[in-house]
Amino acid sequence: MDLYCVMGNPVEHSKSPWIHARFAQIMGHELRYEKRLVPIGGFADAVRAFQREGGKGCNVTVPFKFESPAIATKLTPRAQLAQASNTMRFDGSEILGDNTDGIGLVSDIERNAGVAIRGRDVLLAGAGGAASGVLGPLIEAGARRIVVANRTLGKARVLVKRHMPLAAQHSVQVESCELAAINGVFDIVINATAASMTGSGVPFSASVLKPRALAIDMMYGPAAAPFVAWAGEHGAVARDGLGMLVEQAAEAFLVWRGVRPPSAEVLAELRRTLS
Ligand code: ATR
Repeated sequence: MDLYCVMGNPVEHSKSPWIHARFAQIMGHELRYEKRLVPIGGFADAVRAFQREGGKGCNVTVPFKFESPAIATKLTPRAQLAQASNTMRFDGSEILGDNTDGIGLVSDIERNAGVAIRGRDVLLAGAGGAASGVLGPLIEAGARRIVVANRTLGKARVLVKRHMPLAAQHSVQVESCELAAINGVFDIVINATAASMTGSGVPFSASVLKPRALAIDMMYGPAAAPFVAWAGEHGAVARDGLGMLVEQAAEAFLVWRGVRPPSAEVLAELRRTLS
């Protein structure tokens, strides 16, 4: 039976084993998907040990996503641009590093929330790891304008600069600014900051929201609750990151198994299971 896992620290609360078991069941694939708690500093050894064990691939979560590109022997362009990899596939002795987070977010916005990104104005708040994983696919989805706003302007600038060639290729206007200096109103507002983890609330003004804008947090569960409540209070269509989680998993399944499972159905089941 083909073996996969998610490596992280902590990893106990990961929903990925449940999601992949359900995908495999629906698709009629025989596979096992485990959680592996990896000690800090032990990621490279854990990946190589898993490969020797006969693993076919793994997902990578906090805090190792930025270490995986260095271990991969080849990287997909989207992982290269994100400088992070959440999906690794073992091809013989080769290790492919891929990143399905961004395409997962785009799929959730377009397929599950039913909002087309093409031609829309998008605010991406945050410039850390979460934001870095999604900017490329948002550009490729054809937004009209994307503003990357961050507490620390320098980090937003670096992120935007790295994506300028892709933005030019797709004729997308991409800018950076501080959270306190966001200019304009947006159809889609994405919270990729970790502000709610620090209990400091939503770190930008509700004036950025167009009426009925889609406001989406990349986290789910209690971590997303303050943003979801804020969005609802200000007339936006609020969404947490559970859909992105399922969609990035469906894309990882595609990378490993060559077929994409029915993610919307599994997302609905997962929401029922959690409620
Ligand atoms: P992640 O992988 O979740 O993105 P990260 O790389 O540590 O984690 O990035 C955290 C992001 O949340 C950053 O954009 C950070 O802003 P800075 O670059 O200025 O540090 C943002 N962030 C964290 N706490 C915040 C707060 N209280 N207000 C605003 N932004 C915050």
